[in-house]
Amino acid sequence: MAELQEVQITEEKPLLPGQTPEAAKTHSVETPYGSVTFTVYGTPKPKRPAILTYHDVGLNYKSCFQPLFQFGDMQEIIQNFVRVHVDAPGMEEGAPVFPVGYQYPSLDQLADMIPCILQYLNFSSVIGVGVGAGAYVLSRFALTHPDTVEGLVLINIDPNAKGWMDWAAHKLTGLTSSIPEMILGHLFSQEELSGNSELIQKYRNIITHAPNLDNIELYWNSYNNRRDLNLERGGDVTLKCPVMLVVGDQAPHEDAVVECNSKLDPTQTSFLKMADSGGQPQLTQPGKLTEAFKYFLQGMGYMASSCMTRLSRSRTASLTSAASMDGNRSRSRTLSQGSESGTLPSGTPGHTMEVSC
Ligand code: BEZ
Repeated sequence: MAELQEVQITEEKPLLPGQTPEAAKTHSVETPYGSVTFTVYGTPKPKRPAILTYHDVGLNYKSCFQPLFQFGDMQEIIQNFVRVHVDAPGMEEGAPVFPVGYQYPSLDQLADMIPCILQYLNFSSVIGVGVGAGAYVLSRFALTHPDTVEGLVLINIDPNAKGWMDWAAHKLTGLTSSIPEMILGHLFSQEELSGNSELIQKYRNIITHAPNLDNIELYWNSYNNRRDLNLERGGDVTLKCPVMLVVGDQAPHEDAVVECNSKLDPTQTSFLKMADSGGQPQLTQPGKLTEAFKYFLQGMGYMASSCMTRLSRSRTASLTSAASMDGNRSRSRTLSQGSESGTLPSGTPGHTMEVSC
């Protein structure tokens, strides 16, 4: 009998005819830690924060976020927000390779560059969307600028510094693996890598042949040398804003995200463990992530139900949620998302909930 093989299918829903991507404008600003490049899509909307993204190691804003932000259903969300997509220094398209000996900023310094971007754009608040190293950078920024960050979507965050065991494992892997392979092992699960799907081939190719691979290695080193965020539930160091933690169910960082969830304020945190998404849910499950993002924004009072599609409205109405449905901003809410099989988890208002979808 033929063996059944699990095949991962990437959700695809391109822009509809007539749905054209908004014009983008790329800028660079000087900061105390060197120059940083970012790309702005859309125009500022009165009384709304900007959505600000920060990508993971081995990627740039496009390779990390384009499938999510250009997903068809995402358009009804993002048309209400200006977006600022930051490229970590040296990761922007066409970036020259830094000279030998260049002191690449630490992740904390990358976070300290963000106020220069916001000042340049004259933006006063943001909702951050970060993946991996980018999630760490945005969390650090939220800790130092709590009044500027209204909400955070953190995909694959690891808030801890590497312990000595991690270092030993990292050094050992470094003896047998190239930098691109190590970075791929950070981005994707071993199962995905050995499955070698088109997506994996595409990202392996992008990273292995990146003309700025030396710069990527510097960002990788900064990530591996990160400090502990020292998050403490109920303590002084904690994220004050609503947070949506996201991790793929077979992602390399699942344990770290679970631990992060345990350190955050449960009344402010939603935890989304996404089935069938591998290491990069924003690439493989943009539809599910879009829907979760919509609920998250709704919980913050930014997506009135009238802005939502009929499908989303009916699904939302059938979910237990403390989120305000009329666009009033509410600080205590639970995010929930149904599974494909239709069994919807019931949320307890004000409690963190683990949801598989
Ligand atoms: C955006 O519309 O925000 C976007 C478009 C392309 C790539 C990334 C983001």
